[in-house]
Amino acid sequence: MTTPPFRFDALSSVHDRTAFRCGEEVLDRYLQTQATQDIRRRVANCFVAVEAVTGQVAAYYTLSAASVPLVDLRLEETRRLPRYPTLPTVRVGRLAVDQRFQKRGLGAALLADAARRTLQAPPAVFTLLVDAKNDGAVAFYERFGFRALYGHPRTLFLPLATAQRSFSKTPPTDSAMPGDGILGRSSSVRYFQRRGGR
Ligand SMILES: CC(C)(COP(=O)(O)OP(=O)(O)OC[C@H]1O[C@@H](n2cnc3c(N)ncnc32)[C@H](O)[C@@H]1OP(=O)(O)O)[C@@H](O)C(=O)NCCC(=O)NCCS
Repeated sequence: MTTPPFRFDALSSVHDRTAFRCGEEVLDRYLQTQATQDIRRRVANCFVAVEAVTGQVAAYYTLSAASVPLVDLRLEETRRLPRYPTLPTVRVGRLAVDQRFQKRGLGAALLADAARRTLQAPPAVFTLLVDAKNDGAVAFYERFGFRALYGHPRTLFLPLATAQRSFSKTPPTDSAMPGDGILGRSSSVRYFQRRGGR
């Protein structure tokens, strides 16, 4: 059996993040100086992809509870929903891949890991929500089925029911979740890659 190249962990003091450079300094600084405080204060959880061979942090993302006002969704997206003023969501507040590891599918794997963790959390969550830093990031998220909120072109959401249906058609081939461990080529990664047209 071959060892998958990356392991997904909850960020902790064992992870060396000093060398992390994604091309957006603010995202590097967040990982190096603020993520641990946010975890301690329970305002965000942070998960890292660790290169199995070297132990280096190759990528990370954060998750926080949030809500989406119903009026920010288009009519066709809310037709079958109860008329609650807001819907439960999980915000992927920050997401970044170290430049040495970009363009190898890790960004897709981060989104897959975020979706699987959220689907397995006890509280029901309607969507994943992301704030794209620029038009390139918007294009990245759109490849995986994220759509912009009404009137907020850089805030995008992905209904988790869509992702869940896809997961149930193709059961995971590994033991990546729940908990932390090797993600490898799980069904969820393939799902996100398929959404991108591969
Ligand atoms: C954006 C980012 C997360 C992508 O990570 P990555 O590991 O290189 O992405 P992947 O290799 O998983 O790419 C998956 C797909 O998205 C596409 N993609 C990647 N970056 C893209 C971009 N900036 N614009 C459009 N599409 C993009 C890839 O071409 C690939 O498509 P394909 O399936 O047709 O090959 C990474 O470049 C990064 O960390 N950038 C700096 C920080 C940032 O912009 N974060 C975004 C959150 S605001």
